[in-house]
Amino acid sequence: MSRIATTGITQTNAVIDCILNRSATKYYDPSATLSDDEIRALVQVGTAAPTSFHMQNWRFIAVRTRAAKARLSPIAWNQPAITDAAVTFIVCGQLADSAVIPDRLAPLVEAGVMPAAMVRDWEIPARDLYMAYPQRRRDEAVRTATFGAAAIMYAARSLGLGSTPMIGFDADAVHREFGLGEEEVPVMLLSVGVERQGNWAQKPRRPVTDVLDLV
Ligand SMILES: Cc1cc2nc3c(=O)[nH]c(=O)nc-3n(C[C@H](O)[C@H](O)[C@H](O)COP(=O)(O)O)c2cc1C
Repeated sequence: MSRIATTGITQTNAVIDCILNRSATKYYDPSATLSDDEIRALVQVGTAAPTSFHMQNWRFIAVRTRAAKARLSPIAWNQPAITDAAVTFIVCGQLADSAVIPDRLAPLVEAGVMPAAMVRDWEIPARDLYMAYPQRRRDEAVRTATFGAAAIMYAARSLGLGSTPMIGFDADAVHREFGLGEEEVPVMLLSVGVERQGNWAQKPRRPVTDVLDLV
């Protein structure tokens, strides 16, 4: 309750609780595994995160076998989470590409939610926003992957699992070793698994007064 009180939130709920109680896991139970169905379920939640123009420009590579972990570990600073956690996702963002939008919106059109004529109203502004701007295309890849990873992190927490987002890896080596496409960026690694004892609670945050401008 004291942590909640310091945020000024007087009433809480399961979602806020989950956010306030998550921390980056350092110690995993190396004997605990997740089934492929459980991994799929986590990624399914991840894909419920929002993406710009509904591009869904992401891919998740689930590194969960001993052999795959052995390929990832040396190119990720030998971080113990990679060998000990049940799974480490290579969360990939794909460079924003307006050409995918008609495909990505098709289920919405087929369901009768979006009028077919509206697809162009999404595709054209996206083309103008991104396609001549490599930095914007890459920024969007990073945003997309980050939202997806965050959703998986909180889903994991809500299921009593630990998670660790990680930037400590050699992006070029991961790109090569795991066959990422030319348009794919390995945005972060995200380990998920059963925690063992010794993990820290969430670290104190900078005061809201330092980070919030009310204008
Ligand atoms: C983008 C990003 C990269 C991170 N990279 C690593 C990493 O490579 N290794 C690691 O042990 N923790 C990593 N962390 C975890 C942070 O150190 C941790 O989230 C931060 O210290 C706050 O701790 P808390 O989340 O437990 O409150 C990373 C976190 C983020 C968001």
